[in-house]
Amino acid sequence: MFTSTNPSDIKEVIATVPEASASEILTVLRTAKTAQKSWAKLPAPTRGRIIANVGRLVEGNKEALAKLITKEMGKVYSEALGEVQEVVDTCDFFLGEGRRLYGQTVPSEMQNKNLFTFRMPVGNVFIITAGNFPTAVPSWYIVPALLAGNTVVWKPSEFTPAVANALTSIFHAGGVPKDVLMTVVADGVQTFAALESGLKEGAINKVGFTGSTAVGKKIGAKAGEYIQSACLELGGKNPMVVMEDANIDLALDGALFAGFGTAGQRCTSLGTLWIHESIYDAVLAKFAALVENAAVGDPFKDVLFGPMISQKYLDNHLDHLKMIRSHHKVLGSSATGRITAANPRKGFIGDPEKGIFAHPVIVAGIKKDDELYSTETFGPLVTVGKFSTLDEAIDLANGHGYGLSSAIYTKDPQNVWRFREGISAGLVSINNSTSGAEAHLPFGGNGLSGNGSRQSGIWVLDQFTRWQSMNWDWSNKLQKAQMDLIEIKHDPNFLLDI
Ligand code: UN1
Repeated sequence: MFTSTNPSDIKEVIATVPEASASEILTVLRTAKTAQKSWAKLPAPTRGRIIANVGRLVEGNKEALAKLITKEMGKVYSEALGEVQEVVDTCDFFLGEGRRLYGQTVPSEMQNKNLFTFRMPVGNVFIITAGNFPTAVPSWYIVPALLAGNTVVWKPSEFTPAVANALTSIFHAGGVPKDVLMTVVADGVQTFAALESGLKEGAINKVGFTGSTAVGKKIGAKAGEYIQSACLELGGKNPMVVMEDANIDLALDGALFAGFGTAGQRCTSLGTLWIHESIYDAVLAKFAALVENAAVGDPFKDVLFGPMISQKYLDNHLDHLKMIRSHHKVLGSSATGRITAANPRKGFIGDPEKGIFAHPVIVAGIKKDDELYSTETFGPLVTVGKFSTLDEAIDLANGHGYGLSSAIYTKDPQNVWRFREGISAGLVSINNSTSGAEAHLPFGGNGLSGNGSRQSGIWVLDQFTRWQSMNWDWSNKLQKAQMDLIEIKHDPNFLLDI
């Protein structure tokens, strides 16, 4: 049994759900696989109407779902509302795709012959997601996968089973058959074992995974053994570059939201704030003051951030604090580590003893060979460093090998274009924070952040469909491509005589 608790008040149990074994997951995978053919036969516009129903139901249950998110995983209520809105936006985008899902008509090189392309569903997809976005990120997979005619088995985070079950029930209420979307809660070992057996027997035709780079590597490698490429959305060490001409207040608003929103537990969270050396001291001091004075605590109140998702996330954060070296300057709070009565945070809202709250931490003076330079910290910890030229900033922003999100603050278009061209990240923000991607732009990373797969918008369809190309020769004779060429009379030596 998995028991999820409220990270703001760990004595409060949110849900106790059965824990699936590998063989139980495999049974579910087989059931969904069997259902796929008839789901794919349903016309795409009809599937689109079902997605429309789901979107309206999510909208109608927005507050209830957001409350449950805040209670079970701890993000502040306003962010939880935004997350649920992202599910609505995703449904709104894909309900129309049901009436598009275009293929092409393509000219043939021969007469009396026509060429076409069709998008075909891949089959049954196995989706494994993290606890930090318990509804929005799953919807990025589930909605387009279903729309395109696939069945889905979803393994949500064991820290957010109540949210997962609530979202699943909305899909079912919207008209998705129970065997077309199936949700299983399991631990990593059982999930991986089921993944392997499912791939082996063909019960999994596509894997989608959002989580750490370490686990993503294993999942990607396993899928590769079965000649599949997983859709991987992994970690980040997202840079924000502040040029000397930047609007500093705007940049720091962005840094505060991206660095500490969701307690830094977004894959788009700010990793390192890179400040031009000429303004470094002043900007750092301003940032430190903002973080020191930010409200932390009860996520139902007006705070910058609430608790960590679970003890596991706090433990990881505490491990990252051990990477602080003597040349670093630690700022942002009265202490570091867990916030308790004995280790208090100025102005904390609520009772810190009840939950899993951590002090915000700024680690200034980061250098390229520091462990913290290249470690995704996934907690309320932002590293800060300086640079002298834009080229150096781009080098520092890319040098760790992650490439999910990035940002530059500047008023100079030359800087914008040079940054955009030089940055290796899949997402680039100009005068905006690293977090807050819109639901219909491609989302995904490069390098350690992902294998180039993209979610959202029309681009994710390439994850959940395969192109089928068809040629139809109605000439009633065998016309051979590349061989039966139509001869073209022409004069290759022609020159104008003028
Ligand atoms: C994630 O953390 O996995 O851009 C996704 C953002 C959100 C999505 C984050 N819309 O921060």
